Amino acid sequence: MPNPHSDALVFFGATGDLAYKKIFPALQSMVRHGKLDVPVIGVAKAGWTLEQLKARALDSLRTHGGVDEVAWPKLAALLSYVDGEYGDLSTFEAIRKQLGSAQRPAHYLAIPPVLFGTVVEQLVKADCATNARIIVEKPFGHDLQSAQELNRILHTFFDESAIFRIDHYLAKNSVYNLVSFRFSNAIFEGLWNRDHIESVQITMAEDFGVQGRGAFYDATGTIRDVVQNHIFQVLSNLTMEAPARNDSESLRDEKVKVLKSIPPVTANNLVRGQFEGYLNEPGVRPSSTTETFAALRIDINSWRWQGVPFFIRAGKNLPTTCLEVMARVRRPPITDVSPESTPQNYLRIRLNPEMAVAVALSATPATGAKRQLVELVAAQHSRPAEMEAYERVLSDAMAGDATLFARQDYVEEAWRIVDPVLKQDTPVLPYAPHTWGPAHVDDIICPPGSWHNPHSGETEQVRVVQPVRPA
Ligand code: BG6
Repeated sequence: MPNPHSDALVFFGATGDLAYKKIFPALQSMVRHGKLDVPVIGVAKAGWTLEQLKARALDSLRTHGGVDEVAWPKLAALLSYVDGEYGDLSTFEAIRKQLGSAQRPAHYLAIPPVLFGTVVEQLVKADCATNARIIVEKPFGHDLQSAQELNRILHTFFDESAIFRIDHYLAKNSVYNLVSFRFSNAIFEGLWNRDHIESVQITMAEDFGVQGRGAFYDATGTIRDVVQNHIFQVLSNLTMEAPARNDSESLRDEKVKVLKSIPPVTANNLVRGQFEGYLNEPGVRPSSTTETFAALRIDINSWRWQGVPFFIRAGKNLPTTCLEVMARVRRPPITDVSPESTPQNYLRIRLNPEMAVAVALSATPATGAKRQLVELVAAQHSRPAEMEAYERVLSDAMAGDATLFARQDYVEEAWRIVDPVLKQDTPVLPYAPHTWGPAHVDDIICPPGSWHNPHSGETEQVRVVQPVRPA
């Protein structure tokens, strides 16, 4: 059978934060949707009992999405718990015992990458690795070298086809649908190249800080936390060529090809910022130079994109929470009016918190009136919660569908692009919370026509966005 379903789920880190916020709600949804009816074994070193784990799961559901009176009892019945050290073989022998007759378990490592090596080695020793799948959480490594080392460790025991590297952005409906949106709408795809697009901006803004994750964040920073993974996934979905075939490897091949055409980011194409007050966050080092904001320019040296700059901006404590792509279209060769009085067309794709596609057109509302930029908005207001992304990735991994996971070569290419500049210790500029980053970003990196600052709130179906200034 090509892709047999996993017949048990073992998740390491069962008492941790991720389990509490995302994994239990996802497991409950999987049960509700008929995607999970195999043993679920939580593993951690907390000195807990199964009853304590169930109490924690219930609390997690109450806080994150609610308890489903039908699905929760079913999930509780599937749940078991192994408490023990990851370095201790007896922990893994206990897992093997709990697995019972299961022959194809999926092992989900919701634990720090530094423990991956120990865990996979013990899984092999305790005979839990045969026909198994390994699901790993981001961040996948800290730089290119550590990612290569993690890959080496995993590949010692597992084939690439059995390794599922999670990037939950890949499973967000809006991000995933970018590919089908592009290739099923010839009206856009014809414009979507260097002949018509002048520049592209991708902004991932969050209006909150590090939310108690100071220690993690301080060792990570914006580029490692969201740019190298989440934003690059958006970037590659936006810029890849159509896959030759409709299978996971053809799609992943195209994504890797895009990254291969991107040269490493240089120091003069990066601004790093840190919000004022960050140094007082618990867990943050007193003189930390970790960035909580990054703006960078990326070039894609492909036939489609050569000469079109891509500007990426991401950060904590910005004015709004939003993920938005904005592509400015080259101006037409109008001769009767000055370019300044012809507002520039653009395409705006909002991916979070709601999904929307908007096209900004230059229109003359009445005879003799000045041109105005009018946005035609096709908005879809369903908000795919992150929980759904986790439900999807766990279900897909257990079903052996690798489409929504980062392949080894992709992860390493993504690190290659940011690794050199991360090691250069570039300056970190302060910014006031709830502003669009350091005051001088625009002096260093500024897209043609300026940065586009997404606003919060849903968009109207048609709106005038930029009345033309009087001549
Ligand atoms: C996580 C990052 O991977 O993604 C967080 O560690 C970030 O810092 C989060 O806030 C954003 O995810 P979402 O789904 O809330 O947009």
